[in-house]
Amino acid sequence: MEIIIQTTPEAATAVAARTIALLVRKKPDAVIGLATGCTPLLLYRQLIEMKLDWRKVRTFNLDEYVGLAADHPASYHSFMAEHLFRHINIARKNIHIPDGLTRDVPAFCSRYEKQIKEAGGIDLQLLGIGTDGHIGFNEVTSSLASRTRIKTLTSQTRLDNAGFFGGEEKVPHHVITMGIGTIMEARHCLMLAFGRKKARAIAGAVEGAVTAMNPASALQMHPRTTACLDEEAASRLKMSDYYRWVYANKPDWQKIQPPFNGVGIISSGRRHKQLLSRNGTSLPAWTARVPGS
Ligand code: F6R
Repeated sequence: MEIIIQTTPEAATAVAARTIALLVRKKPDAVIGLATGCTPLLLYRQLIEMKLDWRKVRTFNLDEYVGLAADHPASYHSFMAEHLFRHINIARKNIHIPDGLTRDVPAFCSRYEKQIKEAGGIDLQLLGIGTDGHIGFNEVTSSLASRTRIKTLTSQTRLDNAGFFGGEEKVPHHVITMGIGTIMEARHCLMLAFGRKKARAIAGAVEGAVTAMNPASALQMHPRTTACLDEEAASRLKMSDYYRWVYANKPDWQKIQPPFNGVGIISSGRRHKQLLSRNGTSLPAWTARVPGS
């Protein structure tokens, strides 16, 4: 797992935003798995400011509450519309979010899995992490091989999400969520975590045993996971000095320039690719680093 520790949530988010921007520019019809919650709010704001071309991008959200209509103010449909989709030029037909009102949950879930496969699989899956290590709504003790299905939320997760509903008692008990096995098939997992309350979950996910008691620890078995953390979320990591050194000393072929609206030079593996800005001119040589190994 690649661990990128930045001083603030803004800086950690900027690394993630650059990673997504590069993907969208390199592969305009990329398939991106999206998350909701407080963590990606800043990321969505940064992505909107980047004015990327989302016309061909296809998205699959991780989860939705069972029993909530798409237009319910606390549904993840509403969340995504408000915080990302209505600000970008994505095509409605390319957006996929689990249907909280489906009458046949198992049939819906297998169709969702099929749609992901038909899209060619997920290129990049964005992830937050729960205070107990859940990813998507795969609560502790979820099968590490699980697929999209219904899950029952723990009281901790319902409490953590009470703010979106105006009270814990209003938070639904059930959700539809991509499984851990589904998430593990994404070609790149990009996890964000900020704040001290995520420090224990992050330490377990990155340096603990692989266990269903911390579902994010399954990402240790994923060939390409990047975790973008602020100092507080990283505060319980034993190897943090090592992660910082690794990131500060990346070989040139792993660096990209520049971070925002241009495209810059990126290399993947040994093959260096010269990418140009949209008008075809070379870009200034200010250096930023993105995950990629
Ligand atoms: C939401 C999701 C959840 C959240 C997690 C953290 O789509 O997948 O796993 O990422 O509950 O939530 P926040 O970001 O609100 O701390």
